[in-house]
Amino acid sequence: MANINDNFLKLKAGYLFPEIGRRVNAFCDANADANVIKLGIGDVTEPLPEAIRTAMHSAIDEMGQSQTFRGYGPEQGYAFLREAIATNDFQSRGCDISPEEIFISDGSKCDTGNILDIFGPGNTVAVQDPVYPVYVDTNVMAGRTGEADENGRYEGLTYLPCTADNDFTPSLPEQPVDMIYLCYPNNPTGSVASKETLKKWVDYANENGSIILFDAAYEAFITDDSIPHSIYEIDGARNCAIEFRSFSKNAGFTGTRCALTVVPKSLKGKTANGDEQEIHALWNRRQSTKFNGVSYIIQRGAEAAYSDAGKEQIKTLINFYLENASILSEGLQSVGINVFGGVNAPYIWLKTPEGMKSWEFFDHLLDKAHLVGTPGSGFGASGEGYFRLSAFNSRANVEEAVQRLKSLMG
Ligand code: MLT
Repeated sequence: MANINDNFLKLKAGYLFPEIGRRVNAFCDANADANVIKLGIGDVTEPLPEAIRTAMHSAIDEMGQSQTFRGYGPEQGYAFLREAIATNDFQSRGCDISPEEIFISDGSKCDTGNILDIFGPGNTVAVQDPVYPVYVDTNVMAGRTGEADENGRYEGLTYLPCTADNDFTPSLPEQPVDMIYLCYPNNPTGSVASKETLKKWVDYANENGSIILFDAAYEAFITDDSIPHSIYEIDGARNCAIEFRSFSKNAGFTGTRCALTVVPKSLKGKTANGDEQEIHALWNRRQSTKFNGVSYIIQRGAEAAYSDAGKEQIKTLINFYLENASILSEGLQSVGINVFGGVNAPYIWLKTPEGMKSWEFFDHLLDKAHLVGTPGSGFGASGEGYFRLSAFNSRANVEEAVQRLKSLMG
């Protein structure tokens, strides 16, 4: 019999969102008439913008003609999309990022997990707590941790607590770490990082030879001009950071799939012999071997996100979800709930009612109001006593959810 990767057996139960889905399905099976509103997983609900659909239609037509048909594309992504991203997302903000440093992929969830292929097993890792579970689970799978304790914290990982007490801004690790995951705007707390905060991390990483894995999947929701959209807005970040971005939450691509990872050519790691090695070359090698690129049609759609019409339509989408966040936030505050996030981010992070743990509140909301959210403890031990509501839903559902919350908690 072949050996399995025993690290998988260290993983706690199921992945968070399927686990929620399982509980919701069980509830719906037992309560067939319940009109359940789902504000759990952050999955977009509004249609793809017209500019993007039009570009995809033309790309499909190109694929129907022998002169313009395309087979395998470049594993790193088509130049037209990498150039549009470099110009619009980075260079326009003063970030020195070239198209060759951008790798197109089918998702940031995959990339934040896959990136571990190119890093040594002995690296120490720090994560914010609460945290997007993918960062932790993929490190467990890769064997970088021991077992989980009774709070779900894995031996060997450094957890950086983010609670209301520190304004959801973690302190630097007490012991130097090799890899640090930062997510801003943050999933799940909806907090943001100022320039000063990011500078502190970049300086720390450069001083300690650490690499920051910066997840900016929600950058489009930043409404405050003083908040950086990219870690490369900070001097020195080219030498210590990889950035992940996605078309999922801004342009509605959760089902369509397109994302990007930036690996600057100036970023270095160390070989077992202590020699310096360019990380970009390793990621390029990894992608060329294990990935065959995102479909031409989808990349043309993503490119259209940067057209004038595309930008305008995406702005409308973002404003729509942010308005949802504000409706949820005001509704919760009107019944005395302590609310965080939801201003520069599509997630509302709230304190559960006195004495109620996160999963108890989950069951209470589902049972009494037929509402689904995400228990804070599902994102880590420091999320206990908190709860996340997603602003990704129709306006009618968000308004109905607020009415139900008011009746239940008012
Ligand atoms: C979430 O709800 O945290 C996100 O939808 C998960 C994801 O983007 O993979």
